[in-house]
Amino acid sequence: MDRDGTQGRTPSQPRPGKPLTRGSDPAATAGAGERATAAKRPSGRPLAPATLTIFGAGGDLTSRLIVPALGHLVRVKELPDSFAVIGIDHNDGTTEQWRQRLTETVQGSRRDAGIDEDVWSWLVQRMHYMRGDFTEPDTFSRLGKLLSDQQPGQSGGGNVLFYLAVGDRFFGPIIDQLGRAGLACQSENAWRRVIIEKPFGHDFASAKALNARILKVLSEDQIYRIDHFLGKETVQNILVLRFANGIFEPLWNRDHIDHVQITAAETVGVEGRGRFYEQTGALRDMVPNHLFQLLAMIAMEPPISFNADAVRAKKTELLQAIHPIGAGDAVRGQYGAGSVLGKKVENYRREPNVAANSATETYVALKLGVDNWRWAGVPFYLRTGKALSTRTTEISVQFRQAPYSLFRDTPVEKLPANVLTLRIQPDEGLSVSFSAKRPGAEIEIDGVEMDFAYRDYFAPIASVGYETLIYDCLIGDATLFQRADTVEAAWCAVQGLLDAWARAPAGDFPNYAAGGAGPEAADRLIARDGRAWRPLGGSHRHRNGDA
Ligand code: BG6
Repeated sequence: MDRDGTQGRTPSQPRPGKPLTRGSDPAATAGAGERATAAKRPSGRPLAPATLTIFGAGGDLTSRLIVPALGHLVRVKELPDSFAVIGIDHNDGTTEQWRQRLTETVQGSRRDAGIDEDVWSWLVQRMHYMRGDFTEPDTFSRLGKLLSDQQPGQSGGGNVLFYLAVGDRFFGPIIDQLGRAGLACQSENAWRRVIIEKPFGHDFASAKALNARILKVLSEDQIYRIDHFLGKETVQNILVLRFANGIFEPLWNRDHIDHVQITAAETVGVEGRGRFYEQTGALRDMVPNHLFQLLAMIAMEPPISFNADAVRAKKTELLQAIHPIGAGDAVRGQYGAGSVLGKKVENYRREPNVAANSATETYVALKLGVDNWRWAGVPFYLRTGKALSTRTTEISVQFRQAPYSLFRDTPVEKLPANVLTLRIQPDEGLSVSFSAKRPGAEIEIDGVEMDFAYRDYFAPIASVGYETLIYDCLIGDATLFQRADTVEAAWCAVQGLLDAWARAPAGDFPNYAAGGAGPEAADRLIARDGRAWRPLGGSHRHRNGDA
């Protein structure tokens, strides 16, 4: 990974100044006794020895994302020499079998370019499998012994990162057991951290209860609640865009911004996850986590530093300022049969493990307000859905129109508004649309775009999106992870809507065809304010390969 942002720079590009870094914990390179400061790992100082323990070693997340991410970190030498991986799962199996299975998966995946033989053999020989029931004390006493064996020089097993890549019903029990076995105890020379996957709770009450339960065993600075959207380079770039440039922030408020649209459109359906999705739905699956993280990044106040708590405090404040969302400001949808990218797609209700009369939404659109001085009166429109025509995640910030038209025969309502679009994926980049004079004797005005595409400036880096997140845990930088109050604020903002929808199941499902742009009611939601959604897939010149 290219952490200083210089790899792939064309010769004409200036070298950037000192890279902007987030706050980390020097304990990563020293003992846990030293506390966090705003400095990143001092260059040249090796990472402290550590063992990554993965609960859910046999799962999809481990083979598709965690292990390939480790491979990429090995390639760029971002793991300590003394590094080990322990995988735990319910199934019988040996270390050899686990290594073999992972080797096959990693070799078979296109996304793992960059993991060559040397990288893989460095990693695989450090991987050990242990069968164990996540709720049995015996598993944890055996784990304690294995940890000591991996880091013989470190008393009690040294630094350990526990990764809970398991179903959410196991989060509480595993952490309880880690506590009982004494494995969560830190010392001057050894840190213990826990990564918790999504979903963190399924509503406000359950998230609060889970926080209370795990905080009996762990302190907040040991807990790393993942939202994988924060591992995406372009999401991290939102803060750099806003706070490392002078031109945007003065305009970033209700005086200049008309509204903001946040879209996460997917072409995939539920991908065999019918059982999970039936319990979850689009609102829980995407809004209080991924979309709200984008919202927080785009709308938060400037933090006083890039220290983890300074950033997270501002994000949390923003989420706390979301005006409660009522059912009248939201639309839900469920896809029926159709065709996506030329392939026939079945009705959602015919997916495996989905009820024939399912009331689960696969699409949600909503309008929300942020109750603070910066954003009062500025609507934020959010939408996400499965089986749509195009895969695109983007944020578009639409500025107010020019207050007065100077040009004859060009009424102000005809002038296109300026729109700043941040393309999160695919085709990562940013564009600004504005008005320009069409060449010719007459004054005719047309909309044009200035465009920045990542691929024009930076060489692509082999990444599955988890590299930064795992690395940051190893160095103790929690900036990209959610704090207890952040997740609670997010659930709190959608709780009223969850309740309203639970009380009154939708009567019109399925209400959009797979391969379309979502239900018509979503268009009406925004049209009633005299606005329209941006077309899915946008219009800029890099789309459709016509650059
Ligand atoms: C996951 C959701 O958290 O995010 C999935 O559970 C969704 O339903 C996925 O498809 C989207 O992530 P990405 O990175 O593919 O945009």
